[in-house]
Amino acid sequence: MEVIVLKDAESVGKEAARMIAELIRRKPNAVLGLATGSTPEPCYAELVRMHKEEGLDFSQVTTFNLDEYYPIDPRHEQSYRYYMDTKLFNHININKANTYVPYGLAPDPDEYCCWYEEQIKRAGGIDLQILGIGHNGHIAFNEPGSSFASRTRLIVLTAETIKANSRFFEREEDVPRYALTMGMGTILEARKIVLLATGEGKADAVAAAIEGPITTMCPASALQLHPDVTFILDEGAASKLKRRDYYEHCRKLLSELKMKRA
Ligand code: F6R
Repeated sequence: MEVIVLKDAESVGKEAARMIAELIRRKPNAVLGLATGSTPEPCYAELVRMHKEEGLDFSQVTTFNLDEYYPIDPRHEQSYRYYMDTKLFNHININKANTYVPYGLAPDPDEYCCWYEEQIKRAGGIDLQILGIGHNGHIAFNEPGSSFASRTRLIVLTAETIKANSRFFEREEDVPRYALTMGMGTILEARKIVLLATGEGKADAVAAAIEGPITTMCPASALQLHPDVTFILDEGAASKLKRRDYYEHCRKLLSELKMKRA
């Protein structure tokens, strides 16, 4: 597990965008797993800039989003489909047919979730999965208690998540009570995972995910079981890590070794 601490949210977004761009240049038909929320916004802004100014080519890229409220019309301004279109997809040369966001009006959610899993498999699996983290340690909409073996499914949102996300809606009552989400098992199958966290409000969840026991009560702690995970944090989100000096020491020595071998 690699832990990178940067000065602010913008630097976190830029570093994540740099990793995504590096993958797309190496593998033009890369499959990306994407998250919504406020944390990845600077990353998407940087990808748009890279496309416009540096010609970063998304024409062969496929994307799968982690989650979507249920029920919600994809045209609703708070839907995750709307978020992805307006923050990223409308501004890059991606083929929209290759952008998958769970469909918030699926008539049969169970059947739809199986279909979604099938599309991930048919695309060859996810090369790089971007994640955010909830205050309660959730990843995607896998709330505390979610099985590490869970697959894409319909879930009931916790009161805590509804409250946290009500900042985007007019009233708390307007936040949908359900969501469709990739499962923990689905996420853990991605070849590489990059979790972004910014702000002191995330410090407890980040410390529990990286240094706490592996428990379903902190879903992000399951990432300790994955062979290729990078946490990109700003100072606030890293403020409760006990072994921060050690992570920095490791990064420094490993990059020295890489330079010597190059
Ligand atoms: C959204 C998602 C969620 C968010 C998390 C943090 O697709 O998967 O798990 O990443 O709720 O949200 P923000 O970034 O708004 O703090």
